[in-house]
Amino acid sequence: MASAFDQFCKDTQKVLKDHKGREGRKMVQLNLEKLLNSPEFVEAECGLDAKPGIRTIYRDKETGFNVLVHVYKDGKKGPPHDHGHSWAVYGQAMEWTDMTLWKRKDDGTRAGFADLEKLETFRLTPGKAGIFEVGEIHSIHFPDGARFVRVTGTDLDAIPTNRFNHEEQSVNVGSRL
Ligand SMILES: [Fe+2]
Repeated sequence: MASAFDQFCKDTQKVLKDHKGREGRKMVQLNLEKLLNSPEFVEAECGLDAKPGIRTIYRDKETGFNVLVHVYKDGKKGPPHDHGHSWAVYGQAMEWTDMTLWKRKDDGTRAGFADLEKLETFRLTPGKAGIFEVGEIHSIHFPDGARFVRVTGTDLDAIPTNRFNHEEQSVNVGSRL
């Protein structure tokens, strides 16, 4: 029998081949929630013995999606950012992550300047996943010991993304997360 993770990769590859739009991302979200409800997967990749850090555990050659595991010892509040031309689906494995969505109010024509407005915050709890569409801006906040899995449409290290500073009304190109 295929492992839950092998099945996830197979199912997600098929979904992304057959459904290019929002519908496909919704199916990735459901696939990820199913994976996070597999105790074997969570124990193996995000268990208490997992080493802190960010690991890429799968890259799909056909469709380009990436699967990353984030294991944190210390809690963190990250800055608002986007994922460039990629979408991202975040799924919680342990503890929680508060996701805040932001709206960019300026037109992006002034280099280095960005005016953001906070929209809403929702919490991902173990077994739950959330979709962040292309161009959507979010920030994350999680406590000590949080673990989550992130699926991205492509390798975010290979594309330009924006990282914002809300207080300073600034933006820099190049980020992860
Ligand atoms: Fe992100």
